[in-house]
Amino acid sequence: MTTAEVSAPYGNGASGKSPAAPAKRVRIHHLREMKERGEAWPMLTAYDMYTAELFDEAGIPVLLVGDSASNNVYGNETSLPVTVDELIPLVRAVSRSVKHSLVIADLPFGSYQVSVEQAVATAVRFMKEGQAHAVKLEGGAYFAPHIRAIVAAGIPVMAHIGFTPQSEHQLGGYRVQGRNGAFDAVVADAHAVQEAGAFAVVLEMVTSEVAKQITHDLKIPTVGIGAGPDTDAQVLVWQDMMGLRRGKGPRFVKRYANIADVMLGAAKTFADEVRGHQFPGPEHTFH
Ligand code: KIV
Repeated sequence: MTTAEVSAPYGNGASGKSPAAPAKRVRIHHLREMKERGEAWPMLTAYDMYTAELFDEAGIPVLLVGDSASNNVYGNETSLPVTVDELIPLVRAVSRSVKHSLVIADLPFGSYQVSVEQAVATAVRFMKEGQAHAVKLEGGAYFAPHIRAIVAAGIPVMAHIGFTPQSEHQLGGYRVQGRNGAFDAVVADAHAVQEAGAFAVVLEMVTSEVAKQITHDLKIPTVGIGAGPDTDAQVLVWQDMMGLRRGKGPRFVKRYANIADVMLGAAKTFADEVRGHQFPGPEHTFH
């Protein structure tokens, strides 16, 4: 397979946004090539235009419109309630706002588990209505036929194994996977999703030993979240790593900023200035 890319055969679109600049877009083969070169890469969630633009500008090659929007956008306690209809507009906003990043749409709970046909139909909706570049789904060996069928339909799939939040009730809550004799089962899931055609696999909350073994075994990149330092890539939820989510987050999150304090300070100052008749000033006033 050649990795040289020519200009888009059907034009670049009129907007100047996606899908403009196709030659600079991150493609799934670039991620595989980074693994082959031993280059680690970052991935972040994004759910709207401004974050997508910023993370794209920051050089984050892969953005995930995660079903974590359920918690982080829609205010649910878990990722289970969010629907395809709620996620598609967020995916479209992110896809329209990037020039380079590969945008992955997460298939939410209930939108692919029923059948292989349902999985393909949902993935098609995210590509068509959401303008995503790829989809992600949770599940290992059992979902290999679903992955195979989506890939056969021309849609790249990122798999997600280990702790899979959509199955938290089955898994008995937030628990590290791969312990107590489950090492081989997680490794087997990783091989199954690669074999089915996934272009990458998220390893969530697995022991670093399992993650290291899988990363060594697989040709496709592994993306860790709570999986230790040995995966090919690392993903975090942006509100966690930028400190918009307050309080104690998961142990595997590093906080790189404290956005909540900045926003709280600005909102309080605005409120004080309105109450004290300091805003708007003459420079904000029309005559
Ligand atoms: O939905 C999400 O944000 C995710 C990541 C945590 C991998 O699946």
